[in-house]
Amino acid sequence: MKKLILLVILFFTLTLSAQKTPNLVPTPPMGWNSWNKFGCDVNEKLIKEMADAFVANGLKDAGYEYIVIDDCWQIARDSKGKIVADSTRFPSGIKALGDYIHSKGLKFGIYSCAGIRTCQERPGSNGYEVIDANTYAEWGVDYLKYDWCNSYGIDPVKAYTDMSNALSKSGRPIVFSMCEWGNSRPYTWAQNVGHLWRTTGDIQDCWDCKKDWGGMGWTTILDMQVGLEKYAGPGHWNDPDMLEVGNGNMKYNEYIAHFSFWCILASPLMAGNDIRNMNDSTKNILLNKDAIAINQDKESIQGKKVYDDGDFEIWSKPLDHGDVAVIFFNRNEKKYDFTALWETVGIKGNMKVFDIWKHKNVGTTTKMKTVSIEGHSVLFFHLKK
Ligand code: GLA
Repeated sequence: MKKLILLVILFFTLTLSAQKTPNLVPTPPMGWNSWNKFGCDVNEKLIKEMADAFVANGLKDAGYEYIVIDDCWQIARDSKGKIVADSTRFPSGIKALGDYIHSKGLKFGIYSCAGIRTCQERPGSNGYEVIDANTYAEWGVDYLKYDWCNSYGIDPVKAYTDMSNALSKSGRPIVFSMCEWGNSRPYTWAQNVGHLWRTTGDIQDCWDCKKDWGGMGWTTILDMQVGLEKYAGPGHWNDPDMLEVGNGNMKYNEYIAHFSFWCILASPLMAGNDIRNMNDSTKNILLNKDAIAINQDKESIQGKKVYDDGDFEIWSKPLDHGDVAVIFFNRNEKKYDFTALWETVGIKGNMKVFDIWKHKNVGTTTKMKTVSIEGHSVLFFHLKK
């Protein structure tokens, strides 16, 4: 009993004393992360090319901002405990790379781990929070993704709060992206600690596959977001992991569905593909400004599921000006005809139905009584007054 009381006191002392830098991400952060496509194969040339591609291929104009190097940039600690970058892969050093990214009008993110070592067995930040946060600030880092491998016996609230406080004291505003996979339900305690927190294990480039080690397809991740909507809001977001759009293992309609959901869920939009080489389909998805506007809507509300009959679901998200975003989702492989249940979505009067993928008005809610949806597809509508 005494132990329990002490633990409760520790929890409140830690979370109440957490000092996350406020207002850094009033809307969900948007950017690119190296992991999904490149894994450990990161280097300075690749990251610079990504920064060039952000500008050349329209990502910057569409609102994508952060370029995040995931695991494997770091190799050791020096005699003073300072983290050392792999000089073969990053010969100019991390600060110079950050400067290059900033010179393009973009922001720069890096990765570490709350454990002793990262998931790829590089030095982690456990015990080195202050020195690492100060090093990131010195290098001009704007965003830290902070993982949870090799964390046996470590208390997540303490570990993430320690780094959060170290970042706040570093003198540089740094977005804190917690990657604890949802194990300790971070959404229930991390509002003052992180700006975003992963809610699940790692996404895979597939519809619903499952890996032995815990990786999973995006529809499985989607199901795990139900009920989490109340925890998201300006400055603190549920993170269902980075995008797989454009990585090649799913069909066009499946990637459209994946992206539509990440928009309606007000999820961080971190592209995870090779943005230097995108075909038109990938560009159509990642650069769809009408879809991105739903994600970045000022009301900052995470959408939620409002109807489910197994293969068919309806999700909705209240928007600015009384508008509403709606997804009709057909999980089956066969085409589905559905009598549009506008009342389920809470629509009483007449609203214009703007189709986000056709980029045009397709009717009104009083006239549109049925929808027809192809297999593994969504209809994504912006209902306007
Ligand atoms: C974990 C994270 C991934 C990625 C890898 C890197 O699996 O959840 O997103 O950062 O580690 O090793």
